Amino acid sequence: MTEQLTTDHLSLGATGPGATGAPEESLLLRTRRAPVDLSPDEFRRIGHLLVDAAAELLNSIPERPVTPGLTPSIVRTALGDDGLPAAGTDPAELMRRATDLFARYSTFNGHPRFFGYITAGPAPLGVLSELLAATVNANCGAWSLSPLATEIERRTVRWIAELLGYPTNAGGLFVSGGNMANIVAVWAARAARAGWNVRERGITPPEGRGDLVLYASTETHTWIQKAAELCGLGTRAVRWIPVDSEHRMRVEALRERIRADRVAGFTPLLVVGTAGTVSTGAIDPLQDIAEVCKDEDLWFHVDGAYGAPAAMLPEATDDLKALALGDSLAVDPHKWLYAPVEAGCVLVRDAAALHDAFHYRPPYYHFHGDPDDAPTNFHEWGPQNSRGNRALKVWLTLQQVGRAGYQQMIRDDIALARHLDRCVRVFADLEPGTCRLSVATFRFVPDDLRLPAPWRLDDSAGPTSDAAERDAYVDRLNTTILSTLQDEGLAYVSNAVMSGRFFLRACIVNFRTRADDVQAVPELAVRIGRALDRRQRGTLSPYARYAGDPPHALERLTQRWWDDRLARLARSQRAMLELAMAHSSSPVFSRAAAEGTDVVSLLAALAAGDHRAAHRLHTFATGPDGHAEADALSAPPSLAAALDQLRRAQSALAEAMAGITAEDRLVDRRIIQEIEERALEYERQAARLR
Ligand SMILES: Cc1ncc(COP(=O)(O)O)c(C=O)c1O
Repeated sequence: MTEQLTTDHLSLGATGPGATGAPEESLLLRTRRAPVDLSPDEFRRIGHLLVDAAAELLNSIPERPVTPGLTPSIVRTALGDDGLPAAGTDPAELMRRATDLFARYSTFNGHPRFFGYITAGPAPLGVLSELLAATVNANCGAWSLSPLATEIERRTVRWIAELLGYPTNAGGLFVSGGNMANIVAVWAARAARAGWNVRERGITPPEGRGDLVLYASTETHTWIQKAAELCGLGTRAVRWIPVDSEHRMRVEALRERIRADRVAGFTPLLVVGTAGTVSTGAIDPLQDIAEVCKDEDLWFHVDGAYGAPAAMLPEATDDLKALALGDSLAVDPHKWLYAPVEAGCVLVRDAAALHDAFHYRPPYYHFHGDPDDAPTNFHEWGPQNSRGNRALKVWLTLQQVGRAGYQQMIRDDIALARHLDRCVRVFADLEPGTCRLSVATFRFVPDDLRLPAPWRLDDSAGPTSDAAERDAYVDRLNTTILSTLQDEGLAYVSNAVMSGRFFLRACIVNFRTRADDVQAVPELAVRIGRALDRRQRGTLSPYARYAGDPPHALERLTQRWWDDRLARLARSQRAMLELAMAHSSSPVFSRAAAEGTDVVSLLAALAAGDHRAAHRLHTFATGPDGHAEADALSAPPSLAAALDQLRRAQSALAEAMAGITAEDRLVDRRIIQEIEERALEYERQAARLR
């Protein structure tokens, strides 16, 4: 007789330790209601509450501060310091509180004035799709656990490739973001090109082979260090290739470094070219790098985490389009495809190379399928096992807007970055930096601090301490402008460091941003910068110090005028001293020096009109008894010439001093006139900007 499973068999408690197996217990299990569950009505009610709150939040974001500008302890306090709850709480109430807290204590990267790092606002359809993805909760590690989700991911990966002009038969999958997309590509390259079985042996090279090394420009994002570490190569394996004035990799330097490494016995593995660097949006010369990789038989990886989507524009540069030549490509849909985080995507030209780098078939997995209609099990294609459905939001948004919609949004973002750059140029005290793709950089430099330093006697001697002090001061101003902007929540920018100097940086990957929003950035930077400069200029040493804006122009210009005069004097003085030094090898001066006289001071005193100095020099030339000594006589022309030049320098000095008193009488009028002109120009600029 076949055994029938009866409800009595459900007395699970009867077999458990300490279980009574009481009938009430089995009844409870039959009618089980888990505390975490919601009834369909509750789900609907709380869901509506959430969707209403989310819609309201999205709608009100432009009126909210970009950041709450609060300290961690304040946010912690708002969160409350209740201990772990022992019992449950009403879920509707919890959701209400959570939405309220997020509205008040969040930084909104969907705010039209969020321009920091490379973080896009989320596409609304992508936001909703997260609810659908979580509702189905497909585990995209295996096809049988996620039939539709896996096919959507395959399709979306192919669409992304097609959109960017990358081969559509490439292998690829979704990962958490740009870092992981790049790291996965390096893992694939390592398995494919090391020249030995890295997966089995590890990265220690076999006899006769050198350590693996990677090449990337100094502008490469920090993922490269993590990749080198995670691959077991260590950061020493990264060869930092210098960049040109446009922040693009210097390909000749790359070739030289590869050559040198081969001679030294290393094993070059891969070169990274970046399509849109994190700091300035620079695009490496991808065509030339591809050529180097071909010549040297190296894996060419393109980090297009930020810039790759711009390759979909017909007007994209050939270098950007050359991302299609990469053996692998990292793209970040949560950047310029406006997907909610997280969504990164890695593409590998040779799909088998990706599979070869990750696949395992453990005995406890039975993901069978027909070889003629084989299922894709993504756990074999990347480092993750259980995987969420990251592709859904991208798949839906790609359909919502299509290629044309994305082209329009990306073009607009680029145009807005250019608009920002133009607005920056209106202000005399903003210095434009770079403007590439949708990133613009600039910094606040009080215009008087931009002048060549008049007190520097010899600029060729390298940076003087005054110049260094001013540079450090300007860096401090810009750092504080950045924190103030962020803290006040008026606009969120980040920074770039270029040639050692701190620049403000706005990256527009934001479909809500409009012209007014980018225009506000330079205006705010100038307002904050000028106020800071007024307060902090006094911290500079007197020579490095000038006042900063029209109300203080009188003080500043007077100061500058005096500095100019002083500098002229100092220059004359220095010319005389140099002259004196040039003649100090004359026997007369040697004798003076031998007797312990400081020749330079003596000559300086002479130049300043000190007659006693002239007498002493004369004594050294003729001897105490008034007779010229043989060696002194042997060099009369040089002494005479020295004295003559000194006399001329002395009269130049006297002239300069006379000039000061004469010009002094004119100065007030000139300064006032200059201030008036500046005020007018300032008004004109402000009007133009409005
Ligand atoms: C060029 C580039 N690569 C990689 C990354 C890392 O991306 P993610 O933060 O998504 O990991 C970034 C981030 O800004 C980037 O700009």
